[in-house]
Amino acid sequence: MERTRVGIIGAGPAGLTLSHLLARAGIESVILELRTRQYTESRVRAGVLEQGAAELLRASGVGERMDREGLVHRGINLQFGGGRHHIDFMDLTGRTIMVYGQQEIVKDLIAARLQAGGQILFEAEAIRLDGVLGDRPTITYRVGGEEWELGCDFVAACDGAHGIGRAAVPSTVYERVYPHGWLGILARTPPASSELIYACHENGFSLHSMRSPEVSRLYLQVSADENLADWPEDRIWDELRLRLAEPDLRAGEIIDIGITALHSLVIEPMQHGRLYLAGDAAHIVPPTGAKGMNLALADVQTLAIALVAWYQSGSTTLLDTYTEACLGRVWRAQQFSAFMTGLFHRTPKGDPFEHRLQLAHLSYIIRSRAAATSLAENYTSAATGLGGED
Ligand code: FAD
Ligand code: PHB
Repeated sequence: MERTRVGIIGAGPAGLTLSHLLARAGIESVILELRTRQYTESRVRAGVLEQGAAELLRASGVGERMDREGLVHRGINLQFGGGRHHIDFMDLTGRTIMVYGQQEIVKDLIAARLQAGGQILFEAEAIRLDGVLGDRPTITYRVGGEEWELGCDFVAACDGAHGIGRAAVPSTVYERVYPHGWLGILARTPPASSELIYACHENGFSLHSMRSPEVSRLYLQVSADENLADWPEDRIWDELRLRLAEPDLRAGEIIDIGITALHSLVIEPMQHGRLYLAGDAAHIVPPTGAKGMNLALADVQTLAIALVAWYQSGSTTLLDTYTEACLGRVWRAQQFSAFMTGLFHRTPKGDPFEHRLQLAHLSYIIRSRAAATSLAENYTSAATGLGGED
């Protein structure tokens, strides 16, 4: 049986960052990843990093390309009731956000791990965990048709929303399923705005984000069980122009398209014996608050510090309190994500009373510095910082 110190399941932002942080402290790990390298590096998902998450990547030596190609934004735009209003995070909180695609972060981390001699086994599916209550846990994984075992001191399940880690933790699951979905496209068209636009429209929510001066990332609220076949390209562009109030938004080649159902979930506790959950394996947020990847990075920062303390001094204090250390910000990020989702999404039947409440709340945010500051604090630091308590 092959052995390592920390067996990590999943080469997403959580697993890769954990492996990277451990290696910097001289702790060896092996990552098992179900998918191919190419698939893992091209999966289009998140785009916004809180300043704290960007600083974590920078401080650990994987921020070079992010700082060169990422877009630093000082705020976001709120579009509603026929007007557009800028919320200036920098002015309100002194913080900015970084717009840089998740798949670029994944590419940077994979390159850094492989360059440092780190082990990532692609197309290796973790199928069973044993011995997590003892001090010699094992992960059984499958490559091709064959089964292998990886022995380790600790298991970090960073295997996302559909992995095996979550089911191995006796836990309470807190969950909310939304009736909404997001139809997202990545398109070769210059962004119509220099910063993100969050739009509240009678037809539903829309978001204009970007990846570069040539590539835009655009979203439309649809129903959770929407059929992509009902959305020919012309319909998508027309609906984006309408909801975003951008009549001149240029249609471009659609590089990626998909529908994601909105969902919230928290697992408590996030650990069991020597098994630790991090990132989407432990919690899922609806994407409206842009918190998922940020929470994943914050979890593994906490876990890496706890593991390093154990290897350096044998102390279990930080490992024992891992769940407690994470849950405060997990629930803060859940609260903000639920708030943003409610503020912008049309109810399934398009309740006009609810829509007017949304417009009233948005008007309050743009008129009250206190309300705008609250939004700015949450948007820039709910997942990695104090989230509005500083
Ligand atoms: P993942 O990225 O899901 O990685 C888990 C990995 O584990 C995967 O590579 C998977 O293949 C692998 N795996 C699963 N099972 C196994 C197994 N049995 N064996 C081996 N490997 C396995 N977050 C933000 O912060 N900001 C945003 O702007 C944002 N926008 C989003 C927009 C959309 C449309 C979506 C869908 C999500 C968005 N998110 C955003 C959320 C963010 O993408 C996730 O929170 C993030 O990917 C979590 O990282 P992770 O490493 O925990 O999990
Ligand atoms: C993105 O750029 O993909 C993005 C930005 C903000 C969100 C969600 C996704 O809230």
